[in-house]
Amino acid sequence: MKGIILAGGSATRLYPLSKAISKQIMPVYDKPMIYYPLSTLMLAGINEVLIISTPRDLPMFRELLGTGEHLGMRFEYKIQDVPNGLAQAFVLGADFLAGEKGCLILGDNLFYGQGFSAMLKRAAAIEKGACVFGYYVKDPRAYGVVEFDNEGKVLSLEEKPAVPKSHYAVPGLYFYDETVTEKAANLKPSARGEYEITDLNNLYLKEGTLHVELFGRGFAWLDTGNCDSLLEAANFVETIQNRQGFYVSCIEEIAWRNGWIDNHQLQKLGMEMGKTEYGKYLLELVK
Ligand code: DAU
Repeated sequence: MKGIILAGGSATRLYPLSKAISKQIMPVYDKPMIYYPLSTLMLAGINEVLIISTPRDLPMFRELLGTGEHLGMRFEYKIQDVPNGLAQAFVLGADFLAGEKGCLILGDNLFYGQGFSAMLKRAAAIEKGACVFGYYVKDPRAYGVVEFDNEGKVLSLEEKPAVPKSHYAVPGLYFYDETVTEKAANLKPSARGEYEITDLNNLYLKEGTLHVELFGRGFAWLDTGNCDSLLEAANFVETIQNRQGFYVSCIEEIAWRNGWIDNHQLQKLGMEMGKTEYGKYLLELVK
């Protein structure tokens, strides 16, 4: 399975910050935002990743992440000229996927919790259909919303409903089989003019191959869409890291634990970061 990070969009709710810098490069505590979704793909065992962003921002991602070789990974980059929908990721990413299964994650979604890696590996192993997730939120109106019957069977999926049929929002993390590029290519724009990820998911639902896994209430799914939620996410990461001493979404550590880089390579990355706490953390891992 290959991965796609969608890290573009206009991020108007973060003005004037997002006028100055790409939203997904802004810090969430001690690392750029894109490290969090990237780490999620890595935990799923995905080491080939396409990063899609705007003409303005893509060079910054390329400079930050390079070829991926230093992490034992492979990164490709693609411009999305106009932010006309999440499902476009699979049209822009069709050559990259080259007929393989694909996982899409939004560049501003942060996940953290016990058992997450195992859940991701199960989703990535999907043979047929799609796997998306459900997460209980107080106000789901800003999200895709999934409705279940009493047996847990999915009844409907709606994008930003004014009157949601449940409290379960669908986070920005989606696993699809190899039919995804063809399905995405045939989508029509919605009333608001976007190629909706919810329409893509509805095709799988109609086909009877949509799996929805629920995250429990002990699990954290944060988004970073406005200044308050950005600060809350930073405080969350700081709290966990300072309490445990383990870093949240440290991509170098995950690459090393996955066996994609060895002790020597991790040490080199740590040394490059000089005397920063982040660099020291990497060096401590191989001590
Ligand atoms: O966060 C989860 C939600 O993400 C889902 O529950 C919704 O079903 C899904 O539509 C999406 O809703 P958002 O309102 O958060 O989507 P937004 O347009 O804000 O885009 C999410 C991120 O993707 C944002 O960082 C910008 C980027 N983006 C967005 C679009 C539409 C792109 O890079 N390209 C795009 O074309």
